[in-house]
Amino acid sequence: MQSKDKLEKEVDDKIEVEIEFTPFYRWHHWIRVFSIIALIVTGFYISVPFVIPAVNAEPTNFLNAEFRAVHQIFGFVLISMFIAKTYYFLFAKKNKMEVHSFKDIFCLKNWVNQVGYYLFLTKHPKISGAYNVIQLLAYVMFYIAMAGLIITGLILYVHNYHAGIGGLLYEPMRYIEALLGGVAFVRELHHVLMWGVILFVVGHIYMVVFNAIHSKEGTVDAIFSGYKWKRKH
Ligand code: HEM
Repeated sequence: MQSKDKLEKEVDDKIEVEIEFTPFYRWHHWIRVFSIIALIVTGFYISVPFVIPAVNAEPTNFLNAEFRAVHQIFGFVLISMFIAKTYYFLFAKKNKMEVHSFKDIFCLKNWVNQVGYYLFLTKHPKISGAYNVIQLLAYVMFYIAMAGLIITGLILYVHNYHAGIGGLLYEPMRYIEALLGGVAFVRELHHVLMWGVILFVVGHIYMVVFNAIHSKEGTVDAIFSGYKWKRKH
């Protein structure tokens, strides 16, 4: 990674370089992107197997089991990223700005101006942390959907695997399953939450492109390079 000072020397004196995303943040973001894509594709397959191998006499038609195995592997990758990101959010010294975003949620003016900004009516309101209030709301809902997918996914998992982590989680997951009203509903909920994540991804990509065009600060670059550009005043 190029140093901030070196980069600043390379650009003209009207622009300054700001660190937007740390290496951990960028790695976890892209690992989650690939896991979510893999989980959506394999998840759709589990619910409606859209490819079926040609029938033959040999016991080699394990496509369904392979899709399920890939789903579970990426499921655990996603769980580890969820735990790592939660730790980072709560305890990382470099990451206090995310927590500070919550300071704005009780300021009505902030909400109104943020909506106005997206409708090209007002200037962007001053924010206390890393995210604006609408962005924060979307991220909180995304986290709730992720937590729901993980819990319901683990309930489905303990029905298939009774050794290792499956055995360890069997009792607590069956307890939550009973609270939710049975495994049929759990499977339905797991599926519906996937649609919540799909909606989030569509909105997220739209907002990223909107900000990149509107703010002209290189915000798309930042999730690859870590840096964003700001005009000096
Ligand atoms: C973005 C995250 C995820 C998405 C989009 C997703 C999507 C899906 C979908 C659509 C299904 C099929 C449900 C149906 O029958 O209609 C499914 C099944 C399943 N998922 Fe997920 N899932 C995700 C995360 C997880 C996680 C974290 C786990 C935990 C290991 C997990 C474990 C399972 C299991 C065990 C099944 C059932 C397999 C079977 O029926 O044999 N999923 N998932």
